[in-house]
Amino acid sequence: VRPGAGSAHGKAILLGEHAVVYGAPAIAIPVDELTARVDIAPSSGGLRIESALYTGPLADAPARLAPVSAAIAEACSRLGAPDPQGPDALVRIDSKIPHERGLGSSAAVAAALIRAIYDSASADLDADTLFELIQTSERAAHGSPSGIDARTVTSPVPIRFTRGESAPVRIGAPLHLAFADSGSSGSTTRAVGVVRALRERDPVRTEALLARLAQVAEGSVADLETGDRSALGARMGEAHDILRRVGVSSPELDALVAAAHAAGSPGAKLTGGGLGGCVIAIAGSPAHAVDLSAALRRAGAHSTWTVEVPAA
Ligand code: MEV
Repeated sequence: VRPGAGSAHGKAILLGEHAVVYGAPAIAIPVDELTARVDIAPSSGGLRIESALYTGPLADAPARLAPVSAAIAEACSRLGAPDPQGPDALVRIDSKIPHERGLGSSAAVAAALIRAIYDSASADLDADTLFELIQTSERAAHGSPSGIDARTVTSPVPIRFTRGESAPVRIGAPLHLAFADSGSSGSTTRAVGVVRALRERDPVRTEALLARLAQVAEGSVADLETGDRSALGARMGEAHDILRRVGVSSPELDALVAAAHAAGSPGAKLTGGGLGGCVIAIAGSPAHAVDLSAALRRAGAHSTWTVEVPAA
């Protein structure tokens, strides 16, 4: 095995999570402030993993490493490497993206890992192959992912995503955001299951709510182009309210959203699957993003970040 390295960034969904699972458009941004990196080094004694979640032989890894095993197996099989358990290699995973917080950590680790494997094999990796390989890993992580995470963690720019395809979104003016981690993890599988169950129980009302989420996401493309923060903020507030009504918010997330609004944010909402994880809040300026972060910590956030989406 030759050395190889790969990295990928985290992601945040601005608008359209959950509805995107049913084919609606969603808008997501890369979060360059949070990255995952994977290094492959020659070693002895089979394939070993070194990570915050687990260190030891891949063959003995716990079930939560299934997405990593799936990515390795699929990438090796595509490259014609005979036995993914076989090579004597150390795979070191270093992710700064908090786990199960709706920030794309599983997809970013998979992307970094696949890039490192292809780098080690000196093989070309096109965007669609990378997407398919991340999706194989994501299916092992949480059932039936829409693919928005896989596309966003490998996109250098914000995207509009629908049904597997992504297109860049124009950002007319830099967007300043405060991110707040509620401190509790959110299982995407469970959150997607909550919406699915509601849709089966109460299809007419749920379809109407999901359709409104789709409209809100679609409408935001124009706000992002013109840099209309207050219009974007209003959409985010409405989206949070709908996500709460479909059952994927939590008292902690609602409290953080309320705190952001009280601190002058034009709009805040949960991001990603929900039931825990993070809130994102629009800020008026970089300084306001810092103030919002402090207000969010006072309201109970476990940790906060400021994120800038540059004009593009
Ligand atoms: C997860 O980041 C976003 C969800 O819409 C699930 C998905 O799209 O697969 C909740």
